[in-house]
Amino acid sequence: MEKYYIRGGNRLSGEVFIPSAKNSVLPIIACSILSREDIEICNCPSLSDIEHMMGIIVRLGGRAQLKDGTLFINNRDLLSGPVSAELTGCIRSSVFILGPILGRFGKASVSYPGGCEIGLRPIDLHISGLKSLGVRVREEGGMIDCEAPSLTGNTVSLDFPSVGATENIMMAAVMAKGRTVILNAAREPEIVDLQGFINRIGGRVHGAGSGTIVIDGVKTLGGGRYCPIADRIVAGTILCAGAITGGDVTVTNMYAENLGAVTGKLSVAGCGVYIYDDRIRVVAPERVRAVSKIETQPYPGFPTDMQPQFTALMATAEGTGIVCENLFENRFKYTVQLNKLGADITVKDRTAVVRGVGRLAGAPVAAEDLRGGAALVVAALRCEGVTEISGVRHIERGYDRLDAVLSSLGADIKGC
Ligand code: UD1
Repeated sequence: MEKYYIRGGNRLSGEVFIPSAKNSVLPIIACSILSREDIEICNCPSLSDIEHMMGIIVRLGGRAQLKDGTLFINNRDLLSGPVSAELTGCIRSSVFILGPILGRFGKASVSYPGGCEIGLRPIDLHISGLKSLGVRVREEGGMIDCEAPSLTGNTVSLDFPSVGATENIMMAAVMAKGRTVILNAAREPEIVDLQGFINRIGGRVHGAGSGTIVIDGVKTLGGGRYCPIADRIVAGTILCAGAITGGDVTVTNMYAENLGAVTGKLSVAGCGVYIYDDRIRVVAPERVRAVSKIETQPYPGFPTDMQPQFTALMATAEGTGIVCENLFENRFKYTVQLNKLGADITVKDRTAVVRGVGRLAGAPVAAEDLRGGAALVVAALRCEGVTEISGVRHIERGYDRLDAVLSSLGADIKGC
């Protein structure tokens, strides 16, 4: 899809089922490389990032098929690569395959994933962690060539709790000799999910969700069916979309503990937040209040992946709020587009000052990255008149048929 046309002003209400988290499914697909058995992943959304990861599996000789929300994978005949830039170029998460390919074949040759729209995103922590497990790494001509005839468990202490590095090291360690301990590990729910998947197919991992993860190497892995957690960022986006319209929206299949930092701020903004077993309902006032300060942090702090959508909500709040982005150096580009809709946002370095305005007006704007694009959709729902959003392919990396989901809640949105 190329563009969304959104006529703002409709109050959203209703329920949305939240599918499995993209950021769980991507490492789980990579991790499946370690197994030769049938694997099924349920509630899997149809997203371009997931299609690209499936494409890598298929090009390496494995099988990956998404049918009626279930992803079927079998990697019995998969080969080690090399994995060229043509395959890794579209998707940064392709770096996840390094650990599992090494774990299975003892060698890997994968093209460097490069930078992306929201910042440089180096992979030095992935590489130094793998080196600690006995991997010899040579970086040349844009390729990362790794060799580890005998992966061996070790203690890996991360300088920063990187999500991707924690996952890559976990996956490389699953079939290493002996015990690996990751210190200062990332604590994101998607890491607990990866541990759940690894243990479901016969691995031995514990501690995920804390700063210390322990992986005891096993010789083989089996297959199985796994249901990842719901996508907390999709849920948060839908709740912000409801809130900006003064709506009453419920997300289901969603456990509140994973979204606490976001629902906490929605509550400060004046929304009623109602938490049930596996659903969250947010009832918004006609106009929310500004939240004085939002600072992105590793989990359980406020997620950087919700920063743009929440800033969009703050754009029409009563009062002024400050947003600090601590994870990615280039994650405020979308504010230029929000200002085209009438928002009043000033950015200096990693801080945005958001002065809430009473009125936004539709205009042509461009999505330049995934969550920045989602922020434009949130803002457009409150605009007077029609907002034309181009670059929808960025949004489709992380949202499955967002236009249909928002329509089902009463939004006037058309895609073409
Ligand atoms: C994951 C998520 C992404 C989310 C991010 C932070 C997936 C597929 N993506 O990305 O949606 O925004 O976590 O919650 O799960 N860093 C280094 N060296 C490294 C690795 C990271 O300096 O080797 C830096 C990054 O540049 C960034 C920070 O660490 O500034 C956080 O990155 P990281 O936690 O690794 O994020 P990703 O795994 O890339």
